[in-house]
Amino acid sequence: MEELRSLIRRLFWLVLTIFLLISVVFIGLFPYTPGSTPNAEPQPEAILSEWQPKNVPAALGTMDPEVQLGYLLIKETPSQMGPSAENPKMRFSGNNLACANCHLKEGAQAGSASWVGVIDRFPQFGGRSNKIGTIEDRINGCMERSMNGKKLPPDSEPMKAIVAYMNWLGEGLPADRQKEFTGFVKIKIPDRAVDLSKGKALYLKECMICHGGSGQGVLLTEASKGYLYPPLWGQDSYNNGAGMHRVITAAEFIKGNMPFGQATWENPKLTDAEAFDVAGYINSFDRPVKEGVEKDYPDQKLKPVSTPYGPWADDFSAEQHKYGPFLPIMDYYKQQYDITKNK
Ligand code: HEC
Ligand code: HEC
Repeated sequence: MEELRSLIRRLFWLVLTIFLLISVVFIGLFPYTPGSTPNAEPQPEAILSEWQPKNVPAALGTMDPEVQLGYLLIKETPSQMGPSAENPKMRFSGNNLACANCHLKEGAQAGSASWVGVIDRFPQFGGRSNKIGTIEDRINGCMERSMNGKKLPPDSEPMKAIVAYMNWLGEGLPADRQKEFTGFVKIKIPDRAVDLSKGKALYLKECMICHGGSGQGVLLTEASKGYLYPPLWGQDSYNNGAGMHRVITAAEFIKGNMPFGQATWENPKLTDAEAFDVAGYINSFDRPVKEGVEKDYPDQKLKPVSTPYGPWADDFSAEQHKYGPFLPIMDYYKQQYDITKNK
């Protein structure tokens, strides 16, 4: 009887030991169920694809001739299709800016309305003309406004070359990096109007050394007419119908790109409020006036609130549309029309 009891006891301990061993092995194999931990590590999907935009200067000479022509047109715009083009019929742009003066690194720089992947975003609805526009229409938007010039015919050699260049720039762009190469950095718009005296002080401190005391810039050479430092106002600058003439857009560009060589979209130098004030300051001076801008935005409700020329679908003053405060105008469109505006 005593022997039987001790046998049962031993059997019990044996079964328990085997059970514990199996449990330990299982716990070792499957330590936890992913997702059940409250502070789970970021999932692998959140890691963005490794990909670098083209190094344009390094690729020169190796690209397709049409792509290379596109590059020349956007980089040496004044002599290729501007006021100093040899052939008078090739004089399309009206000032001596280059496209690449605003679309930095020849269009490859994130945070400066980059052209990397831009072809895939068109055709696209545009409020300014209130219709679906092609990439050629968008390029001509900058030709008529930023370049203060006239349209390139859509099927012309220069237009095709610029589009081919933009296509080449976007080759291989992974879908998860598209956003980074779209538009400008967003800023928190101050809930006040531009302070022009602060803008002026900042201009003198951070910008004048390159862009000049009267915003006139510095030419590369007298002959080339291209700029080493482009002008920010005056007769050789973008006209009043340009995107850069809207204070919010200019502030976003400046925040992510200026002072040149010191600021990038990832590592800006100015605060949002500083970029806002200096953007108002450079846009407070005279510049070329585009004819017919009052016909922009046939649906006036779609006009960006910082469009400095009328007519508008509201009763805010011209002064407020130019310098802000913009938040009350944005609130008005939200309440009146349920439209959310960010520029
Ligand atoms: C003075 C600065 C300036 C110059 C010069 C300029 N652009 Fe632009 N461009 C802009 C701004 C600002 C925007 C964005 C406008 C907006 O947000 O409404 C833009 C937008 C664009 C877009 C659309 C980008 C997108 O993501 O949708 C294209 C394409 C473009 N520009 C092409 C050109 C070409 C080609 C030239 C030369 C012929 C040129 N630009 C010259 C300022 C400029
Ligand atoms: C170190 C010189 C330098 C400084 C300082 C500088 N910029 Fe620029 N800026 C440039 C250059 C160069 C370009 C054209 C970039 C290119 O072509 O690659 C440019 C382009 C621009 C443009 C777009 C082109 C145009 O002519 O409209 C604006 C707007 C601008 N700068 C504003 C500013 C403001 C505002 C400041 C001060 C906060 C500033 N910059 C400081 C060199 C400078």
